[in-house]
Amino acid sequence: MRDFLERSAIYRVFLRIRPRFLSDEKLLTRLSKRGHNLDKALSQNADNKLYLFELMLLFKEYFRRKLKPTDVTKWAWDLVYRAQLDLRETEPETEQAVYDASFAGTDTAKVITGRRSIRKWDAKPISTKDITDSINLAKWAPSSCNRQVWKFLIVEKKEDKDLLNIFTHQSFYKKAPFVIVPLVDITDYHKEIKHYAYLDMGAIIQNLLLSLHCKGLGACWIGIKHDKHYESNADKFKAYFHLEENLVPVSLIPVGLYCEIPKAPPKLPIMVISAIAM
Ligand SMILES: Cc1cc2nc3c(=O)[nH]c(=O)nc-3n(C[C@H](O)[C@H](O)[C@H](O)COP(=O)(O)O)c2cc1C
Repeated sequence: MRDFLERSAIYRVFLRIRPRFLSDEKLLTRLSKRGHNLDKALSQNADNKLYLFELMLLFKEYFRRKLKPTDVTKWAWDLVYRAQLDLRETEPETEQAVYDASFAGTDTAKVITGRRSIRKWDAKPISTKDITDSINLAKWAPSSCNRQVWKFLIVEKKEDKDLLNIFTHQSFYKKAPFVIVPLVDITDYHKEIKHYAYLDMGAIIQNLLLSLHCKGLGACWIGIKHDKHYESNADKFKAYFHLEENLVPVSLIPVGLYCEIPKAPPKLPIMVISAIAM
């Protein structure tokens, strides 16, 4: 019952504020007011769900409009972050877990945030072992029912790389010392779970990019479109590299030593890509 009342109260707030209809000025004023409400609730250990929820909606609109950050919005944003953590820490099911609120400074965080898509490489050669070692580490990725029906074709010769242009109009990949072609046997996945094939591949490809990055190698994930051009060339590709009939190429991953590390592209704020279910 309490849950229901809470939910309907939240719904009323949602209907009431409709941040889209607020002017920029009113939006910022309300952000500041609710920030103070939340600050007070946090310092008194009082229930803050409604303020948090309203602030989350206001921030969603604030990010949508790409308004300039101010001291007040940074302060309020920090509060939202803190309140979200508090909310999670009080969930009963997390009581048993060893919970570390911050990833900052950990090796995992450095590896994940430090990886970039690399499109220019140093001319110095790298060894095949660097590639196979990285695949060997990447294989610890999860896969549905532990299928592991992935394969990695490692391409080095110029004429072989040239043939891969049947999959993409981009040519920068040819300048990399190696190109890895991840492949999957989709016949292992029945009709209802065909898409699991690409989920499994996504998991191992990201592991591979991170493993290569740890070795100081730069790579880029290049998608392969399954268009008419692909349909008419897939057999030629498989015959040329003597690949099994059932294998489907998923992407091209050029790899080499970093030439330069590009600036990190912007990533969306947590508020935009997540929502706490109320
Ligand atoms: C499925 C997929 C397909 C991609 N295809 C291409 C591509 O065709 N060409 C390219 O230069 N980058 C491609 N990328 C790389 C993205 O552009 C890159 O990950 C994104 O801009 C973010 O940059 P970051 O990897 O440095 O964080 C692809 C990435 C993914 C996940």
